[in-house]
Amino acid sequence: MDIKTFEGIRTPFYYYDRNLLERTLDAIEACTAGTPMKVHYAIKANSEPEILRIISSRGFGADCVSGNEITTAIECGFRPENIYYAGVGKTDEEILTGIDAGIGCFNIESLEEIDILSDLASKRGRKVTVALRVNPNIDAHTHEYITTGLKENKFGIDMRILEKAIRKVKESENLDLGGLHFHIGSQITVSEPFKILCERINDLKAKFRLDGIEFRFFNVGGGLGIDYDNPDENPIPDFATYFSTILANLHLDPGQEVHCELGRAIVAQCGSLISKVVLVKNGLEKSFVIIDAGMSDLIRPALYGAHHKIENISAEDKPADKIYDVVGPICESSDVFGKDELLPETHRGDLLALRSAGAYGSAMASRYNMRDLPGHIVK
Ligand code: LLP
Repeated sequence: MDIKTFEGIRTPFYYYDRNLLERTLDAIEACTAGTPMKVHYAIKANSEPEILRIISSRGFGADCVSGNEITTAIECGFRPENIYYAGVGKTDEEILTGIDAGIGCFNIESLEEIDILSDLASKRGRKVTVALRVNPNIDAHTHEYITTGLKENKFGIDMRILEKAIRKVKESENLDLGGLHFHIGSQITVSEPFKILCERINDLKAKFRLDGIEFRFFNVGGGLGIDYDNPDENPIPDFATYFSTILANLHLDPGQEVHCELGRAIVAQCGSLISKVVLVKNGLEKSFVIIDAGMSDLIRPALYGAHHKIENISAEDKPADKIYDVVGPICESSDVFGKDELLPETHRGDLLALRSAGAYGSAMASRYNMRDLPGHIVK
């Protein structure tokens, strides 16, 4: 990282490597061109307008989870018909935002929501496309806070009442059943859960065909993980394995599409949180590098015990032979980015990069302790 380009910028801030983002999008296009796979970017991972414009300019769709995400997606160039709206608790106002904007699909998560959406669509005199989010009860072997497909989860419709939900949608004059939606978790680094998901979908497809029910698409959700430990060795996720697993295992009919909604895999590696060392505190047992970024800027370590690789970019040519705990300034003991980190000798004023922070970094930032939100640059 060239720290000269960071001179004069107020820390902490997110730095996004535009070239890496473009190459990541190229890699996705190379795997999906000419296939029935349509990629939707999960805006919740990073909603910086500049990032959204780069992604929308490639013709990707958007996966939104709030009315504001829908509005921002449209402002940043996503076509309404390529916007899908998911969420367990959509308010009437948010649903109307989606209906009025003419978005492509509402992903429905409960029987109750079918009635609410049907009523609101009828009030507007519109017919809207829906997909039913099915809870496939698959263990994605990821952190318990980010697993979503297990049956005791708040997300999705239990497979045992799916038939009832389908009947309910078919009975409404204002709803058009487009497909089924799934999402089994996030930061999934093995193929097996995706393969099992495809098998589950094949079974459902065959079962409902017997009842004369056909789907135009299946949405397999997001979830593809990235390599947090080795961002330089693996800057672009293994899209080839991911897409080929889905395309090879899902039995699609001619004309049927498969959709996915990747967030982390698209934006995580292109982003780093750049922070300045406020001071180095030498304790009796430990030395602490105290930086000006805290859990309000990047909450993943405090919330999930996640680890982002830490680099002293002001001392890149020096040997990493000192051990420090790297911590933020916030009044919480969980405000820790790394324990026993091996770094070059570090001084007040040095810049540190917390790598792989492009997804769920700035998007989850808060103003806790009345701190300013982190800035950002895209270069
Ligand atoms: N689709 C649905 C329905 C989702 O709930 C999510 C993420 C995605 C797609 C995108 O998943 P991805 O491709 O990014 O794994 N804040 C956590 C991650 C929460 C993920 C929530 N849902 C973190 O920082 O690890």
